[in-house]
Amino acid sequence: MKILNIVGTRPNFIKIAPIIEQMDQSAKISYALIHTGQHHDENMNQTFFNQLNIPSPDVNLGVRGGSNIQQVSQILQKFEPVLLRERPHAVLVVGDVNSTLACAMVAAYHGIKVVHVEAGLRSFDLSMPEEINRILTDKISDLLFVTEASGMKNLAREGIDPQKTHFVGNVMVDTLLKYQDFAANSSEILNAHDLKSKQYIVLTLHRPSNVDRKEVLQGILEAMVGLAQELSVVFSIHPRTEKKIKEFHLSHLIENLILIPPVPYLDMLQLMSNSKLVLTDSGGIQEETTILKVPCLTLRENTERPVTIEKGTNVLAGTKRDDILNAATQILACENKKGSCPELWDGFAAKRIVEILEDWEPSCP
Ligand code: UD1
Ligand code: UDP
Repeated sequence: MKILNIVGTRPNFIKIAPIIEQMDQSAKISYALIHTGQHHDENMNQTFFNQLNIPSPDVNLGVRGGSNIQQVSQILQKFEPVLLRERPHAVLVVGDVNSTLACAMVAAYHGIKVVHVEAGLRSFDLSMPEEINRILTDKISDLLFVTEASGMKNLAREGIDPQKTHFVGNVMVDTLLKYQDFAANSSEILNAHDLKSKQYIVLTLHRPSNVDRKEVLQGILEAMVGLAQELSVVFSIHPRTEKKIKEFHLSHLIENLILIPPVPYLDMLQLMSNSKLVLTDSGGIQEETTILKVPCLTLRENTERPVTIEKGTNVLAGTKRDDILNAATQILACENKKGSCPELWDGFAAKRIVEILEDWEPSCP
């Protein structure tokens, strides 16, 4: 069976790595790797291929920036000839980004089977482009791999045929468990910034709802000014956020933070593992902090990953300055959630996925 594996963004690289590793060991599956180009800076892209031993993409569609509509439409047009040339049995997409939906759509239009890894997550917030991408991708998928119980319930409620859905665990956790010790032994990030274990906070931000509106971004950064009086705040700045801070003239609010460009994966693992607290609007980081048992304050009003709250260390803090400061103060005063490991987040999700793919018989293209 020939599969086209699709990636486009930073979290996609982390999710595809263990799937490719398992496919490499399969006698029944061959694959090509297609990169849409959505993330392309060295430190948002190539460093992940290097550190996670992901083979170079067979094809890079070279899509760059633009609005959601521009990205999706560019990918639709550029992926179609690749699909027609490669004629795979299936296209495998991961996550919820524009590259995920666009490539799934091209496959579905051509009657090629769609496999979605990380299906079923729902924030119930249609103002997020990711929520639109999730719902539409799931609707046109033929095989849906789910990370947590809420995802199975959501898909059942939406009328997706249960025979198509499989609760397999979390491929992002596969990668974390594989590299956790190596990161601890090899990363120099703590020394590089003179950081002591459990004496700093990590911050990441990139959701349009947080960074594209000046008043929201300003409130979040003002909370960081307050927290930086207590502990060092290490801020890994996503390119979208960097642009917006400049555009809104908010650079004065980050003067007392430790500013770093997006860091390689192993450094990020090491930073999170040793932090006292992580503040984030990232989807993946809510999951990773759950496994690392590091307190996480999610700077959003909702999450599509409720298991990280029910079982993990995650707390929704919202996006208002005082709410963030109050929630952080409680955690820094050691009122920590203990957290436990969600079901099947055990390092074997990709193995389960590939075993199911091997037994699957999509019709010939
Ligand atoms: C995208 C995903 C989001 C995911 C995030 C992971 C969608 C709708 N959004 O958001 O779900 O959580 O990736 O990080 O697909 N940029 C660069 N260089 C890069 C990447 C981005 O300069 O390598 C800049 C560009 O100006 C670009 C902007 O950041 O226009 C936003 O990038 P984009 O991929 O559109 O959205 P993200 O915010 O990264
Ligand atoms: N990450 C990283 N370096 C950073 C910030 C994040 O390696 O500077 C990793 C993080 O550990 C997680 C993934 O990127 O594995 C999450 O990606 P992101 O937050 O960009 O996207 P989301 O998960 O929100 O879609």
